[in-house]
Amino acid sequence: MILLDGNKTSTEIKNEIAQEVLKIKETGARLPHLAVIIVGENGASKTYVAAKEKACQVVGFQSTVIEYPESISETDLLKKIKEINENAEIDGLLVQLPLPKHISETKVTEAIAPEKDVDGFHPINVGRMTQNLPTFLSATPNGILQLIERYGIETAGKHCVVIGRSNIVGMPMSILMARKAYPGNTTVTLCHSQTKDLKTFTLQADIIIAALGIPEFLKAEMVKEGAIVIDVGITRVKSEQTKSGWKLLGDVKFDEVSPKCSYITPVPGGVGPMTIAALLKNTLQAYYSNNQ
Ligand code: GUN
Repeated sequence: MILLDGNKTSTEIKNEIAQEVLKIKETGARLPHLAVIIVGENGASKTYVAAKEKACQVVGFQSTVIEYPESISETDLLKKIKEINENAEIDGLLVQLPLPKHISETKVTEAIAPEKDVDGFHPINVGRMTQNLPTFLSATPNGILQLIERYGIETAGKHCVVIGRSNIVGMPMSILMARKAYPGNTTVTLCHSQTKDLKTFTLQADIIIAALGIPEFLKAEMVKEGAIVIDVGITRVKSEQTKSGWKLLGDVKFDEVSPKCSYITPVPGGVGPMTIAALLKNTLQAYYSNNQ
């Protein structure tokens, strides 16, 4: 079993990006700049946004985090997005999800200029992705592709089962793994909450991408010998074994599944850091294309 080390791989990617930033600095040009908007007090969102901000510092990007209280109106949020869209000094913009119920995530996603949409959530960018046109691939699926690629895992002709059909992970992942490209070229089955007898599908899978958000859902009896397992889940649960009183669990029951795998991602330290590396890559891509 080989552990797909997201910490190590994301550090490699960040080092490569930092080298690019040094080259930009030498020319005297302005640096790539990511803006992040966060609304409300969601603890997980705050952790993710802090990690994104820190990653920008590490590679030498400029970053701006804009925090709004839960009570901000949709109109005011949309106004701010418009302002950032028009700001030539900002290359990438993301609004951390989820948003409070009174704000439409669809309206917010559609308000972000597609050329600054480093999350790759805008319908134009999702459409371009489905047609394999140049675009921003959303960060978590892109991070998973990078991990597969950097470990040199062959994917063509394999059967990939994606569990979960969210707009952020499962849906784009299924499209990317099916496209005529590397990594890709797999036969994809997209399973979800209405799938009957899920195990019959997962047992056929050469690659399983678990993105359903239920801790330790995927058990050893659901995985065939030699499978590649990518665990996108990250749920904080109470624990008496840790000092903090909390631990992070993936969607895969790692202890029993990992001995059967050829490759598997750990949680934490697998997909999570790759997501951030992919976001940085997208921001650099936005910088270059907006400066040409
Ligand atoms: N919430 C959970 N994952 C993400 C992400 O990749 N981007 C944004 N904007 N919000 C998220």
